Amino acid sequence: MGCSRSIPNSFGLFICLVCCLFWISSSVLAAFRPVDNFLIDCGGTKPLEIDVGRTFQPDSGNSNLGFSVSPASRIFVSENVTSPSNLYQTCRVFTETSNYTFRTNQVGRHWLRLHLYPIENSHYNLKAAVFSVVANGVTLLHEFSFAESGKPPSRLRKEFVIPVDASGFVLILSPSNGSVAFINGIEVISVPDGQFPPTAVSIPIGSSVDIPVHVALGTAYRINMGGPLLTPNNDSLWRTWEPDYPFLLNSASARNGSVDPSFIKYPAGVTVEIAPNVVYATAQEMADANVGDQRFNISWVFRVDGGFTYLIRLHFCDIVSQALNNLVFNVYINNQTALNSFDISSKTKGISAAYFVDFAAGVSMSSDQILVQIGPPNLRNIPPNAILNGLEIMKISNIEDSLDVPVVADFGSRGPKKKVVVLAIVFCLVGSAILALIAAAIYLYFHQPKKPKKRPVSAWLPLPTHVGHSESKISTVSYTSTAPSLGLGRVLAFSEVREATKNFDESLVIGLGGFGKVYRGILDNEVVVAVKRGNPRSRQGLMEFRTEIEMLSKLRHRHLVSLIGYCEELNEMILVYEFMAGGPLRKHLYGSDLPPLTWKQRLEICIGAAKGLHYLHTGAAESVIHRDVKTTNILLDENHTSKVADFGLSKLGPTLDQTHVSTAVKGSFGYLDPEYFRRQQLTEKSDVYSFGVVLMEVLCARPAINPALPREQVNIAEWAMYWQKKGQLEQIIDPHLVGYVNLDSLRKFGETAEKCLSEYGIQRPTMGDVLWNLEYALQLQEASVQTIADESSTNYIPEIPEWIPHIEGAECESADRASDDAATRSAVFSQLINPKGR
Ligand SMILES: *[C@@H]1O[C@H](CO)[C@@H](O)[C@H](O)[C@H]1NC(C)=O
Ligand SMILES: *[C@@H]1O[C@H](CO)[C@@H](O)[C@H](O)[C@H]1NC(C)=O
Ligand SMILES: *[C@@H]1O[C@H](CO)[C@@H](O)[C@H](O)[C@H]1NC(C)=O
Ligand SMILES: *[C@@H]1O[C@H](CO)[C@@H](O)[C@H](O)[C@H]1NC(C)=O
Ligand SMILES: *[C@@H]1O[C@H](CO)[C@@H](O)[C@H](O)[C@H]1NC(C)=O
Ligand SMILES: *[C@@H]1O[C@H](CO)[C@@H](O)[C@H](O)[C@H]1NC(C)=O
Ligand SMILES: *[C@@H]1O[C@H](CO)[C@@H](O)[C@H](O)[C@H]1NC(C)=O
Repeated sequence: MGCSRSIPNSFGLFICLVCCLFWISSSVLAAFRPVDNFLIDCGGTKPLEIDVGRTFQPDSGNSNLGFSVSPASRIFVSENVTSPSNLYQTCRVFTETSNYTFRTNQVGRHWLRLHLYPIENSHYNLKAAVFSVVANGVTLLHEFSFAESGKPPSRLRKEFVIPVDASGFVLILSPSNGSVAFINGIEVISVPDGQFPPTAVSIPIGSSVDIPVHVALGTAYRINMGGPLLTPNNDSLWRTWEPDYPFLLNSASARNGSVDPSFIKYPAGVTVEIAPNVVYATAQEMADANVGDQRFNISWVFRVDGGFTYLIRLHFCDIVSQALNNLVFNVYINNQTALNSFDISSKTKGISAAYFVDFAAGVSMSSDQILVQIGPPNLRNIPPNAILNGLEIMKISNIEDSLDVPVVADFGSRGPKKKVVVLAIVFCLVGSAILALIAAAIYLYFHQPKKPKKRPVSAWLPLPTHVGHSESKISTVSYTSTAPSLGLGRVLAFSEVREATKNFDESLVIGLGGFGKVYRGILDNEVVVAVKRGNPRSRQGLMEFRTEIEMLSKLRHRHLVSLIGYCEELNEMILVYEFMAGGPLRKHLYGSDLPPLTWKQRLEICIGAAKGLHYLHTGAAESVIHRDVKTTNILLDENHTSKVADFGLSKLGPTLDQTHVSTAVKGSFGYLDPEYFRRQQLTEKSDVYSFGVVLMEVLCARPAINPALPREQVNIAEWAMYWQKKGQLEQIIDPHLVGYVNLDSLRKFGETAEKCLSEYGIQRPTMGDVLWNLEYALQLQEASVQTIADESSTNYIPEIPEWIPHIEGAECESADRASDDAATRSAVFSQLINPKGR
């Protein structure tokens, strides 16, 4: 504790003491100390300590405790018991409307907890008592009676949040006609600031719902998912958290998980007052999570009163993952999506870190339930799982300042009529607002402002900040430009894109991807483009759309497909690229009637793609990991120059002090790095693995995964590695290549692919190494062709493998390639000189 030897002993001790005291006091102060804290044992005779450190005071006489009962009813009843005393053994009975008045010291929200139990006694039948309770003008209980429920009475704890202004807090109990009112215990406690949000996200997702400070809340449910009952002793705000099992629709769908509560971290904005660590330390997750391809929801049903809006708070804490970005799931409330592809760690930036989110859902008069569901998202290669740690459902007081439904007898007289009128007005207003919006959207769609011709857009425009927010996607800004592309993406008007594609004519469709359809289009300036039109409803698509724009705006390379522009007007997500006449590499390998590529062409295509990836990994200011390297994402132009495309899944690579990026597993089946899949740690080497699969695909001209083949052949990576390890890769190469491939070139190629497919990233070469080796394989091939021309050598598969390359081979390299990568070239030379050197 900061004691240094150079300080005289006594002084050092003093400093230590001060430090200790400060440390102790600060750790004690960290606990919430409510300004107002009234705990009342109604009808009690002496102070009663119930929970640790909480003493309930009797409500008889003593007025210096800050509250008073008026009129000072003297009637109270008590139970004859021998067990330890508790709040429910005594109660105060009122025969006329009476009130408890509290002199509060703090303005703002206060917890109010009412404790009720109809004690058997000789004077009153409290079970049949009918009464109402109003706090600061808010009706909490209306004509309440234990008899009404029909069940044997049990201890009832009702919790509310009541707004308190400078005039203090008044709780009024009114017995109904001829009955009595009673109460066993009362708690009035200040609520910490920031406990409740000013707004919450509406369900169905739309604009946010205001939660003004003057509304009252009534706790309907507070659930500790996957954990035990938590009593006021376990919660710094003395709340009770119930286990979720009674509400779980199918208990076989969920499995409880827990960690040591001390592991739970509270990032900024979340405190133990939001929920104690014991809530975050337990969760329900999918039973058999991460196994196979399970697709089901875990569902909980909660009975609630219809005709109210509920504040629904979900508590999350990833206690099940080993790494970040590993847990992605959906949350539904009342069959509506609340969170889509939600990744807790994207919010908390840590494992075991607490997070909560608030929603507001209206429950109609005709309904009586809130359905909460969690389930896996529909994403590629994400291990399916979903979790929930805690849930709170709080009723929001209605326009009549009530938290209780009027009893049926009252129906048709007072409240409901007024309510129906109010509801009708609300529906009219909402309805006309929606109509107006639709009309506006239609107007904008058909009355595009005429193109402000030749409005120059000289450079890349910053990404509009509203990308990603569903509210404001109707953009009226339309920058148009017919200036020739400078190779920089620009914002295109929707009308411009529509014209370019003849109103998205189906005959112009050149491809169909996860993101949407791809059209061939011609811009005003006669530039031929590929237009990728996204599905506007997919939020995943929106993320990829944004990533793609961000990535491509940073990257320029001869072997990367360039973005010409984008458009995101009218809910559209459109990306416009340079047109690649040759289409995807895969089409040239199999599944079409295009002429087979020669070995040299294949090598050059692989070299181009490797250069593109090498640039991604090392060339830009920040390293970029592509994450979806495959033969459909390598495109060819009319001259068979290859370019890497589709950066929707790309991620910035690890920074200098990191070795990897932790992320949810994304990518394509058959190309996925097994190590990345296991550890969710993304490095450039994951791209290298996928590229190894591409190399094998290029060599064998078959899909990465072909389920139609016998088991051992289904996965090309396994099948080709089997033959490569035997040294007989030539057995499975594309038949079109047989007789035209120099065996050494093939050996070099096979070796390179093998290294790329190494089990561990650390054993795989960098893209730079891959590039050298491919260049070398090309040298070997070209040199041998020359040799054949010279000597009619028959050094071809399946002929004699002995063949020594000669340095002259390098001389035939095209000027183009030579100028591209001097470093690569020198490395190739060194290999040529010493072919067994690597
Ligand atoms: C509380 O009750 C007393 C006695 O009936 C009454 O005089 C007083 O106005 C009441 N206070 C409130 C705030 O209703
Ligand atoms: C409580 O018990 C005592 C004797 O044990 C009895 O005399 C008394 O009537 C009981 N009181 C009530 C309210 O039942
Ligand atoms: C109150 O009780 C009287 C007589 O028992 C009855 O006539 C009257 O309707 C009751 N009022 C209400 C509001 O229930
Ligand atoms: C978790 O589930 C197991 C098995 O169903 C059960 O025995 C255990 O009590 C549960 N734990 C909690 C805290 O509810
Ligand atoms: C809750 O508090 C009680 C009493 O202090 C304690 O025995 C129990 O272990 C606590 N439960 C949890 C889950 O921390
Ligand atoms: C949700 O959907 C199910 C099945 O379609 C239906 O039975 C249930 O009533 C719906 N729940 C709500 C709250 O809309
Ligand atoms: C989960 O529930 C939502 C909403 O009720 C539904 O749309 C979705 O299809 C369900 N998912 C699965 C896998 O059952």
